Formats: sequence, C-alpha cells, structure tokens
Amino acid sequence: MSANSPTAVVVLAAGEGTRMKSALPKVLHEICGRSLVGHVLAASGELDPGQIVAVVGHKHEEVEAHLATFAPDVRTALQPTQNGTGHAVRMGLEELAGGTGSPVSGTVIVVCGDTPLLTGATLRALNDTHAADGNAVTVLTAEVPDATGYGRIVRDGVSGAVTAIVEHKDASESQRAIREINSGVFAFDGQLLTDALGKVRTDNSQGEEYLTDVLGILREAGHRVGASVAADHREIAGINNRVQLAEARRTLNDRLLTAAMLAGVTVVDPATTWVDATVSFEQDAVVHPGTQLQGATHIGEGAEVGPNTRLKDTSVGAGARVDNTVADGAEVGEQASVGPFAYLRPGTRLGTKAKAGTYVEMKNASIGEGTKVPHLSYVGDATIGEYSNIGAASVFVNYDGEAKHHTTVGSHCKTGSDNMFVAPVTVGDGAYTAAGSVITKDVPPGSLAVARGQQRNIDGWVARKRPGSAAAKAAEAASRKPDSEA
Ligand code: UD1
Ligand code: CA
Repeated sequence: MSANSPTAVVVLAAGEGTRMKSALPKVLHEICGRSLVGHVLAASGELDPGQIVAVVGHKHEEVEAHLATFAPDVRTALQPTQNGTGHAVRMGLEELAGGTGSPVSGTVIVVCGDTPLLTGATLRALNDTHAADGNAVTVLTAEVPDATGYGRIVRDGVSGAVTAIVEHKDASESQRAIREINSGVFAFDGQLLTDALGKVRTDNSQGEEYLTDVLGILREAGHRVGASVAADHREIAGINNRVQLAEARRTLNDRLLTAAMLAGVTVVDPATTWVDATVSFEQDAVVHPGTQLQGATHIGEGAEVGPNTRLKDTSVGAGARVDNTVADGAEVGEQASVGPFAYLRPGTRLGTKAKAGTYVEMKNASIGEGTKVPHLSYVGDATIGEYSNIGAASVFVNYDGEAKHHTTVGSHCKTGSDNMFVAPVTVGDGAYTAAGSVITKDVPPGSLAVARGQQRNIDGWVARKRPGSAAAKAAEAASRKPDSEA
C-alpha cells in the first residue's frame, strides 16, 4: 500500500444476472481465460488497496469457491438478499469494519463485478482525481452512444457540477436524453459513505437501496461531489447478457493482440486469433490464423504457431514451429517441430530440435534433443534420449488395464516402424528394433531386437483355395512370365 492507495475496494458481485439465462452466476462467466470478477479483481489490485472485499449473494458458495482459488487474499461479505447496490456496499463495509462498528476511514473504491474491461489505469485516474479534488465522492462516468438502462448523470445547468444520478427506470423524458452515464464505479470517503448509506431510502421504482442516492445525500449535506470521465466508454460496459459477453471478449482480445503486435509479435489474422489475458510472447513470434492461446501459454522469440492451433499452458521455445496442433501443459523446446496434426497432452517435454510429427499423440513423455517421432504414433509415459528416431506407427503401450507403466528409449536409437513398446521396458543407447516388433523385453545397448512372427509362404494356396478368382488369374499370368520380369 502506497501513500495514495485506497483503504479498500468493494467489489459488488451478489446479483443473479438474470439476463445471462445461466446456471452459472454471472460474474463467473469467462472471457479471455478469466472470470468477469477475476478481471475486475486484477484491475482493482493495480490500485494496491489495503483490502479487497467482494460482496456475494446469489449462489455465493460457487462464487466464494472461485475466489478462494483465484484470489485467496480477497475477503467476502454475504448479502443474503439482493436489496440493491447501496445495501450491498453496506454489507461490504460491515465486513471490513469486522464487527467493530467503527466506520472505515480513508478512500473506499466501489466497483461492479461485471465490468471486465475496466483497467487499472482508469481506476488510478479516478482515485487520483478523488484525492486531488478533496471530494467526498467521485463517480466514474462515460458518454455512451446508447444510455438505455443506465443511471444518468444529472449536472447543474450553470456550474456543470454533478447533482444526482437518476436510474433509467426513475428518469424523466428529458433525463433519459442524457448520454453521460454512471459506470457504477466510485471513489468515496469511507466515513462519509458509511454515514450516508444509513440514510438511503427505498422509495424508488425497484424498492431497493440505491448506492447512487449517496451522491445526492452527500451533496445536500454540503460535501464535494465530483466526476471522472472515462476516456473510452467501452471500458465501463457492464455485462448483462451473452451478446454483451461476446462483445466484451472481442474488445478485450483486440486489446491484448494490439499490445502484442506493438511489442513485436506478428498476428496474421487478429479476427481469428484468440488469446487469454495470461498469455505472453517474445519478439518476432508469429501467430497464424485460427489459433487460440490459453492459460499460461508462452510463445518464444521467432517461434511460429498455427494455423488452426490451440495451446493451453504450453511454452513454445525460440524458433520452434507448431502447426495444426492441440497442446495442453506441454513444453516445446527451441527449434522443435510439432505437427501438422499433433496432440501434446500434459507432461510432454520436447527437447531442442526435437519433433512430434503428423498424427502423433504424446502424454507425460520426455523427448530428448534432436529426437524425432515423425509419423502416426502414440508416446505415453516415456523417456527418450537424444538423436533417436522412432519409426512410423509406433505405440508406447503404457496401460495394462490397471496401471500405467514407463518406457525408456536411449540416445541414438533407431526403432522400426509399427513397433509396440510394452511397458515397463527399456531400449538401450544405440539399439535398433526391427519393423513390426512387439518389444516386451529390455533391449541391450547396440543390439538389434527382432520380435515378430517368422514369415511362411504357402505355395499355390490361391490356385487351390480360390480357383478362378481374379487373384488366381493374376498369379497364373505372373507364373508364365520369364523370371526376369516376375
Ligand atoms: C447500476 C447502477 C446504475 C449504473 C449501472 C452501471 C444503481 C442503483 N444503479 O445499475 O446507475 O448505470 O449499474 O452498470 O446502483 N449488486 C449486488 N447486490 C444487489 C444489487 C446489485 O451485489 O443487491 C451488484 C450486481 O451483482 C452487479 C452490480 O451490483 O455487479 C450492479 O448491479 P445491477 O443490478 O447490474 O445494476 P444496474 O441496474 O445495471
Ligand atoms: Ca438492477
């Protein structure tokens, strides 16, 4: 907490969000890899407040469980019934006072849990204006193209000072023409807020305690009321339905991609590229169309990912190439090559210049430097050394129906196509295996393992068993050709 930091941030997250038409509480819906309330908490954290309290109500157990994992330092206050935003803030302040009954001093910032586009910078500007002007309350406002549904900012015709906030449902025809709206975000003097909330009434169209009434109450008591106008009205958009959820996702995605591009990342098609807020890039990374990057994914310098690729919690090393791939919890080494059409599951680690090629699935597998698994293979629960080559269509048979077992293949091995490595089994350094082998026993270093049935040719079988067939005729014709052509 620094000198200008607020004492507390109160996040309102008790509402049901009826218009989402969802079993999931509204503030738990996600955009760009984070819940709506998660984005609000991240922005709030940038203010370095003394405490953050989230007011919860509708399905509060679910919201509390989410907060306990996402933001364990955040306290929660229960608002048992949703009696309005003023009532919600009152519950938050009671939790902060910790039953002492003494009002919270210093600045209290109030934000809504459903405004995921709000930035820390805008909150800082609000907090600074509030402190610099010595206000009792400062409301964050914005001019919007369509103010329907929002509380309107009523200003004095002469001085331009904010006099009141009037809810849409309670507004007159002329007030509804106002396009400056209440964002629902405020900076308050904590003590004055506590006093004023005690005076808020419920004689409005919704029969609720409106937080917005605090403005008028403080103004009439002779306190300073101010406003901070947001530079970009899209930042304060509250999400009420799934259309707005999609719009906000698009806006936030554009913001994240713009920041990446300005930092030196090539995004070939921003319209079909989707990133989470937690994804990071190095300079000269290239992202091809149709790519989704999620969670803690990191794309190294000069690496190319996509097209049509989804990477979650995956790190891609410098200069690596990942094409038409799905990966989750994988580590791709520098200059490694993945795909097209690879599936890397948790615990996959590809070394420098290693390869997981076409139609290759890997799980809990460590692939050494320069080792290649180029075609049609499953590698599960395995360790492979350096500069080995795994033949096409090989399966690391890791599951016996009860438990998973491990396979180790050494360095500089060449295993044949269509091998089954029945774990637990070890192939030593420099060993070879024959095509079609089912490897059930350890192969010593430098040996060739052959583990397949001997071939037996039964002469004349087709002529005897399939007389007159096309196969029999072809065989007959072949037998009449001179040896050199047969
Ligand atoms: C509110 C404001 C309105 C503003 C708009 C901005 C009031 C009275 N109105 O209207 O001026 O333009 O936000 O989006 O404040 N909540 C609770 N407990 C409650 C009621 C609400 O926690 O009892 C929470 C909701 O979960 C939500 C936030 O408060 O996060 C705002 O509530 P909502 O019902 O969406 O308010 P609006 O009617 O949109
Ligand atoms: Ca409402």
